[in-house]
Amino acid sequence: MLQKLRRLELPPPRVLAFILGVFAIFLLLEGYLIARHGFRLPPSGLGWFDLLFWAALVFWSVRVEIRLPLSASMSHLFLFALALVVLTPPWLAPLWVFLFQYSGNTWYKQLFNRSQDALATLAAALVWGLFQSNPLYLGTLNLSAGVGLGLGAVVFFIVNTGLVTLIIHLANGTPLREIWKKNYGWLAASYFLLSPVALLLARAYETPLLGGWGGWTVLLFLIPLYYSRFYWDEKVRLEQAFDATLEVLMHALEAKEPETRMHSERVAEIAKDLARARYGDEAKAMEIYRAARLHDIGKIGIPEALLLKPDKLTPKEYEVVQSHTTLGAQLLKPAEKVAFGPVVYNVILHHHERWDGRGYPKRLAGHEIPEEARIVGLADAYEAMTAGRPYRKAKSSEEALQEVQDLSGIQFDPRLVELFTQLWHQNPLWRDREAYLKAKEGSVSRFTLPQLYLASDSPSPSEPDPRTSGE
Ligand SMILES: [Fe+2]
Repeated sequence: MLQKLRRLELPPPRVLAFILGVFAIFLLLEGYLIARHGFRLPPSGLGWFDLLFWAALVFWSVRVEIRLPLSASMSHLFLFALALVVLTPPWLAPLWVFLFQYSGNTWYKQLFNRSQDALATLAAALVWGLFQSNPLYLGTLNLSAGVGLGLGAVVFFIVNTGLVTLIIHLANGTPLREIWKKNYGWLAASYFLLSPVALLLARAYETPLLGGWGGWTVLLFLIPLYYSRFYWDEKVRLEQAFDATLEVLMHALEAKEPETRMHSERVAEIAKDLARARYGDEAKAMEIYRAARLHDIGKIGIPEALLLKPDKLTPKEYEVVQSHTTLGAQLLKPAEKVAFGPVVYNVILHHHERWDGRGYPKRLAGHEIPEEARIVGLADAYEAMTAGRPYRKAKSSEEALQEVQDLSGIQFDPRLVELFTQLWHQNPLWRDREAYLKAKEGSVSRFTLPQLYLASDSPSPSEPDPRTSGE
């Protein structure tokens, strides 16, 4: 695996300084290894053909890399780098990784990618060397190779993903945790399960099984390796497809009720902050954020005449509008198991339930209401109070907070009202509707990510859409 920096057009000085720093550290350590072990090409036991063969593998692995969501990509380079660590003197693997990868990026991205991969390989080579010079035994069993390579792989992973995460953070300010989670969190398991393959590749190369040359076995290994990258690719695509589906649904609703996008975005921001405060878990907060974006999706099935009616609704009409909860749940039912999961389903169906059991559609009360629906319900109510309608004046943020507090234990979960009050006093952008709209209109807002981030393959659902500015 190789994580790389992509699509960074002009590096800010601190990014450039970081790249040059990583390069300098690589040069220093590489120089130290060469001074210690002596430079000789080809090294003893290997010929020029062997070195060219592994150079070609390094080159190939980088050419078939796949892209990750947040300005990064990855490949199987780590397997060849680790196999080279096993086969060659410690200074050679980092040097080969540095010299023979080519990705077609601009010079400083290439310099960074080459340097950070080489550094990761160098760190793995040091760990490997440590276990070779200090063999580890369990009884009579020599564990040096297995443990040395396993720990080498861990060190490679940490240096590699750590440096890439840092530079993306430096370049566009995306929180470190978000980059790590989105790009690498899910990768670690498949990475570590694959790393023994590096040892197999090295041993297979040393012990020819076919036609008197170990390279044939290595080439045979490439077939399953090449196809295993499709699993990673699919995983990334699935996430992108999910975000895109969400956008499509929002566009469909927006076409009907133009105000809805702004409303659902603000509701989602409030719900995300509440969920983060409640669970302290970014992934859960993002799940609720997505659910909140979709909470009113059932309005697609409600006649426009009712949705846009300037006067108060009659009881009969109100009943029809209320059915957007059940309609929405029905609408997404086919995707419940494969794409959306129970959180989204619960939010859509239950966001109008009330703590006292007088809500709809199921008249659930208290803890019977799924917590995610209570969170979005509160966020939805606050946003609606501050928005106003032709027949109802908008409340100020202070009045709306007061109303939320007055309805604690009646309409809202008292515990969530407490959390909401704390958040409100921290003056989040969503607190004041006008300020929120303004921020969404302007090009720079708390939620706006820099241009290079926007250009990435997977639009974050929190990216503002310029069309929301017309409210
Ligand atoms: Fe609703």
